[in-house]
Amino acid sequence: MGTMNKHSLSRRQFNARMAALGLSLPLAGRLLAADQAPQAVRRSVRLPDGTMVPALGMGAWHLGIDRHPPAVEEEAVNAGLALGMTLIDTSGNYGHGRSEQFLGKALAGQRDKIYLVSKVEGDEIAGDGIARACAASLARLGTDHLDLYLLHWPVPTDKFAGVVAAFEQLRAAGKIRAWGVSNFDTGQMAALFKVPNGERCATNQVPYSLNRRDIERELLPWCAEHRMPVMAYSPLGGDNNLVIKDRVLQQIGAAHGCTAAAVALAWVIRSGAVIAIPESGSPAHTKENAQALTLTLTPQELQQLATTYP
Ligand SMILES: NC(=O)c1ccc[n+]([C@@H]2O[C@H](COP(=O)([O-])OP(=O)(O)OC[C@H]3O[C@@H](n4cnc5c(N)ncnc54)[C@H](OP(=O)(O)O)[C@@H]3O)[C@@H](O)[C@H]2O)c1
Repeated sequence: MGTMNKHSLSRRQFNARMAALGLSLPLAGRLLAADQAPQAVRRSVRLPDGTMVPALGMGAWHLGIDRHPPAVEEEAVNAGLALGMTLIDTSGNYGHGRSEQFLGKALAGQRDKIYLVSKVEGDEIAGDGIARACAASLARLGTDHLDLYLLHWPVPTDKFAGVVAAFEQLRAAGKIRAWGVSNFDTGQMAALFKVPNGERCATNQVPYSLNRRDIERELLPWCAEHRMPVMAYSPLGGDNNLVIKDRVLQQIGAAHGCTAAAVALAWVIRSGAVIAIPESGSPAHTKENAQALTLTLTPQELQQLATTYP
């Protein structure tokens, strides 16, 4: 695809940007140590078409709706991009289009370094609805293509073939580079793979965090078997169940010179087959989250987390 390097920085570039952003001394020390430990490179994930994307992106569900001042949110997004979180997840329906409009402004002039993901709703698929929804998203985002377009929620199985055909038409027309689904269970994934071109699905975006591990039973193994990465939403537990106050996470974070949030995210992306899309409209939180890109938890720490969050 030729996109191998477009979405990733070298460790040297990353370290320089960390320093430029004034990140903490313990972290700088850890990155110095990382220079002597070649395995501590920034994590990326391979999509089925060969495209490499960072293992950590940024969610945009509540961006552009005044939860934080727009300038602060823009600063947060730019801090995340500078630190390598160059995958951005939005949806046509987030804030009734305001998330995409916000991103259109924030990403102007730097679209080429971003892997941009948006979504279409199940009630938009009739007729040429997917093409129309995509055109509306492209207009709000101020771009001519999406890197990935997802069906936000499952529709009845007998509609899968039509959805895939519409996605493939958009791909052929250059409006999207790849397509995928969201909130599909294992049975729905198997049904999707049975329709023509269904196996071209790039990913399934589902909830996954320390306090929500149900996909480990069936869906994660199924996706691994089919060499398809999962995209983890609400990786910090979501607004109401944030895991970051947990003492075990804080202790592990202290040992690595990072926060509980980075530990929670490093856990989510530990396998190399999961992309996490934490959301933050706060520059400080975004910088904390980016640390997970280079954080490797020890087997003991992974064991401790597995016991704390069975
Ligand atoms: N496909 C779907 O059906 C679906 C469903 C839900 C979400 N999503 C996607 O997944 C993204 C993330 O999910 P989410 O927003 O539900 O949950 P999340 O990323 O687990 O949590 C977001 C919350 O964590 C806070 N936060 C972020 N980093 C933090 C840090 N370092 N320290 C303390 N607090 C921190 C944020 O507040 P601040 O802004 O104050 O940092 C926000 O309140 C969404 O933006 C969306 O793109 C998709």
